[in-house]
Amino acid sequence: MPDLSTRLGKLNLKNPLILAAGILGTNADLLKRVVESGAGAVTTKSFSINKRKGYENPAVIELIENRQKIGLLNAIGLANPGFEKFKEEMEKFKSCNLDTKLIASIFGTIAEFPKLAGMCENYADAIEIDVSCPHVDDSISKNPKILKNLTGEIKGLISKPLIVKISPNVTDIKEIAKAAIDGGCDAIAAINTVKAMKIDINFGKPILANKFGGYSGIGIKPIAVAKVYEIYSMMKKENLDVPIIGIGGTTTGEDAIEMLMAGASALGIGSVIHYREIDVFGKILNEMDEFMKEHNYKNIGEIKGIAVE
Ligand SMILES: Cc1cc2nc3c(=O)[nH]c(=O)nc-3n(C[C@H](O)[C@H](O)[C@H](O)COP(=O)(O)O)c2cc1C
Repeated sequence: MPDLSTRLGKLNLKNPLILAAGILGTNADLLKRVVESGAGAVTTKSFSINKRKGYENPAVIELIENRQKIGLLNAIGLANPGFEKFKEEMEKFKSCNLDTKLIASIFGTIAEFPKLAGMCENYADAIEIDVSCPHVDDSISKNPKILKNLTGEIKGLISKPLIVKISPNVTDIKEIAKAAIDGGCDAIAAINTVKAMKIDINFGKPILANKFGGYSGIGIKPIAVAKVYEIYSMMKKENLDVPIIGIGGTTTGEDAIEMLMAGASALGIGSVIHYREIDVFGKILNEMDEFMKEHNYKNIGEIKGIAVE
């Protein structure tokens, strides 16, 4: 049997599949179902200190181009009920003592991020900062200096692992990843959604209430693979070894293997749940297991980064 366990710094995961932020991560019961489906770790939906209303509908649509289902476009606007409600859900989830890890995804201003990270650290196994949502404010993930300082400030405050989730909507993602690493992050999550738009040609208007949204799902997989590859390649050249959570379009076990080959240590699983149901985690794990047996790979370490020169 191939060994699917992996490590994100101090965090040991029984397998590399992590529920990505924003999909089903709103309450303990849903998170529990994802764990029962086989996830190695789960991420909450991003939440802020105070509740946020988000945008009007339509906020999420399925993208169909030339009759092909190519993914989802969302501009939810990080609607969430705020820290106190998430605290209750994280406590409820933790009280189930499941064999998994809980990642709290947080969102805020430069001043709020460190405060919220401190507020959350007793309720989760790791903190992920969402500085990269393309339909809200992703300015932090576009400014290496600010990102490095913010990462350093949060690291100085918390003892739990810190994951920085970065954006593909930048000129050079390597520079942004390097800033997070220089700030001392324990892992990089790449990528958040790709800024995109869909226009309804019958009305001559963008469909989403927010006009722009974040594109996710199968269509962004090649973009995510390229970004993970670029980051891993930069780290190799600079002798750095910070784990990458590869996120974007993973739909099958073969996709997961491809992301590992580009340099990921673990994988975020998001939009595919819409297409393959909540038990997709077990399905992807079986597909990975089959591929690894067929190709004689014994563990994730033998696959990680092998495509990177
Ligand atoms: C409906 C929806 C909501 C999302 N909400 C968040 C969020 O709250 N925080 C975040 O960091 N990313 C959020 N994302 C981005 C995902 O975590 C992930 O980075 C992206 O969807 C790419 O992965 P995928 O192609 O597997 O879905 C959201 C994505 C979708 C589709």
